[in-house]
Amino acid sequence: MTGDELIDLEIQLLLKGICQVYGYDFREYSEASLRRRLTRWLSASGFATFSLAQSQLLRDRALFCTLLRGIMVNVSDMFRDPFFFKAIREQVVPYLKTYPFVKIWHAGCASGEEAYSMAILLLEEGLKGRFRIYATDINEEVIRKAGEGIYPLQELQRFTRNYQQAGGSGSFSDYYTARYDHAVLHSSLRDTIVFAAHNLAVDADFGVMNLILCRNVMIYFKQPLKERVLGLLDSSLVPGGFLCLGTKESLDHRKISDRYEAVTPQMQIYRKRYAKK
Ligand SMILES: C[S@@+](CC[C@H](N)C(=O)[O-])C[C@H]1O[C@@H](n2cnc3c(N)ncnc32)[C@H](O)[C@@H]1O
Repeated sequence: MTGDELIDLEIQLLLKGICQVYGYDFREYSEASLRRRLTRWLSASGFATFSLAQSQLLRDRALFCTLLRGIMVNVSDMFRDPFFFKAIREQVVPYLKTYPFVKIWHAGCASGEEAYSMAILLLEEGLKGRFRIYATDINEEVIRKAGEGIYPLQELQRFTRNYQQAGGSGSFSDYYTARYDHAVLHSSLRDTIVFAAHNLAVDADFGVMNLILCRNVMIYFKQPLKERVLGLLDSSLVPGGFLCLGTKESLDHRKISDRYEAVTPQMQIYRKRYAKK
C-alpha cells in the first residue's frame, strides 16, 4: 500500500467513526476538497497521522468542532452575487406578491447574510408581515452566530456596495446600528427569520415553501448526495415555487430537471412546473 493509499484508508475510517459518533456523514462529500481540508486541519492539529488523531477526535467534542470548522466552508456575503438578488427582486417577487403569505427556505445559510439580504429585499418590496424565512445549516456554531446578526464593520463597505448593485431602494445603513467595531442588524430583520440546525444529508424536509435557496452548498457533494438533496428540496417546494442554486451549480441532467423551467439560466433561478411533463 502506498503512503497516499494509507492516508485515504485512514480518512475513510475516520469519516466512518465521525458518522457513528456525531451523526455527520462526510463520506458523500467530494473527496479532493475534503482531503485537502482534512490535511490542512491535521497539519495544524499537532497529530502526526489521522489514525493518531482519531481516538481523541471521537471522544472529545471540542476537538471535533475544530475539525468541523476546518472542513466546512462557511463563507457567505450580504447580497452575494448582487445581480442574482436583482433578478429575485424583478422576476420572482412579483409572483410572491400574489400570495397572502410566503415561506422561504435558505438551506445551507452559513453565517446568515443571505437570509438577512432576503429579509431586507422583501421588506423593501412591501411584503412586511407576509413572509417567514427559515434559514438552516448543518453547522450549529455558525447558525448560532447567524442568529445574532452581528458582522464586522470592515465588511460594511462591501455589504453596502452589493446592496446597491442588487437594486436596494433605501440605504443599507437603515438596517444596522454600529457598535464599536461591529454592525448589529436591526431586530426587525431578525424577527422575520427562524434559524435552525438542519442536515440536508439526513434530515427530512422543512414543510411547504414558495421559494428555496440552496446556493454554493451542493458543489461540495458527490453526485448521489446532490440528487438526494435536490429531491428533498423538490418535495418541499409548491408547484409554481422557485428554486435557486449557486452560480456554479445547475439542474442540468438532474432527475428533477424536467419538473422545472429556467427563469434566468445565468442566475440559476428555476420555477417548478404546475404539472409533471
Ligand atoms: C459556502 S456556504 C454557502 C452559504 C450561502 N448559501 C451562500 O451562498 O452564501 C456552504 C454552507 O453549506 C453548509 N452545509 C454543508 N453541508 C451541509 C449539509 N449536509 N446540510 C446543511 N448545510 C450544509 C456549510 O455548513 C456551509 O455553511
